[in-house]
Amino acid sequence: MERECQEALLDTPSLPRYTFTIMKKIALTGIKPTGELHIGNYFGAIKPALALAETYDARCFIADYHALNQVKNADQLRGSIAHVAAGWLAAGLDPEKILFYRQSAIPEVFELSTQLMAFTPKGMMNRAHAYKAAVQDNLERGADPDAGINMGLFTYPVLMAADIILFDADIVPVGKDQTQHIEMAQALAQTVNHNYGAEVLKVPQAAVVESVAVVPGLDGRKMSKSYGNTIPLFCGEKQLRSLIMRIVTNSQTVEEPKDPEKSQIFLLYKLFASKDEQDALAARYRAGGMGWGDAKAELFRAANRVLAPLREKYEHLMADRPALDAILARGAERARPIAAATVRRFRAAAGID
Ligand code: TRP
Repeated sequence: MERECQEALLDTPSLPRYTFTIMKKIALTGIKPTGELHIGNYFGAIKPALALAETYDARCFIADYHALNQVKNADQLRGSIAHVAAGWLAAGLDPEKILFYRQSAIPEVFELSTQLMAFTPKGMMNRAHAYKAAVQDNLERGADPDAGINMGLFTYPVLMAADIILFDADIVPVGKDQTQHIEMAQALAQTVNHNYGAEVLKVPQAAVVESVAVVPGLDGRKMSKSYGNTIPLFCGEKQLRSLIMRIVTNSQTVEEPKDPEKSQIFLLYKLFASKDEQDALAARYRAGGMGWGDAKAELFRAANRVLAPLREKYEHLMADRPALDAILARGAERARPIAAATVRRFRAAAGID
């Protein structure tokens, strides 16, 4: 019976075809080009952001003017920008699928930032965590509260709000440390909309990325640049091996059975190995007779298998800067009309048209 129905269906003269345009929601990721990408960034930020592109209209940009607040050396900044651009591309960002551009290539960011400034209470900036922490730091050192604090740092949340609102972001995947910035972006968009009695700007939502994978560093603490315990994502094979060999272990002997879930070597291994491989190595841990040296050798093998192709792609991209620049320029070209539309909406609403 079922078979008959299927055949009947197949016989039906072909139905008219409709084309639907389904508007995907927009997700925006900002990447500040400071420091060297490490495997904690890869599993904690890059992979989750790329996964979002499966369900969202994903937009991803290099926040180079945010980095300028910190980095005042031109070669260093230029190098960091190229590093994160090549790094994200090597890690799998497909610039055909994800709009990928540099913040500095979109002048509308700075126009919207100025527009938003007029709606930003100074007191809100006083409450921003990063600024408050810098002031606190100065006070603790007995220094002037404003020492070393530039206006770029003070107004950072406004520029970040402009980044977000300009591209009509529905969601912004961020770590917990950034949620306050998103709340400020929401408040600014709402203030503008309320003032003009119209939906001039899209109000964004934060999507807090609960550390999908806590990536342990060489010393067992969370892998982080500030702890100096990282494994660079694109380091050479030799360095990868020697860093893995430096992972801190306890004094359990080779013979002793070991608990894989309590071993940071195993936690790292899980990020790189298949389920079967994980089960097999866990069994060897529990059986005893396997030393930390062996566990590290297994980790190196699994990590290098994943990282070697990324490293190769990264080096290839870094070797041809004009091609890398062209990818970003193409992204900016596609991004600018979107940006221009937002700025125009604001101007019209505000009477600056
Ligand atoms: N502030 C973010 C960071 O420090 C980087 C960033 C700048 C950003 N603008 C953004 C992130 C817009 C998301 C959306 O990591």
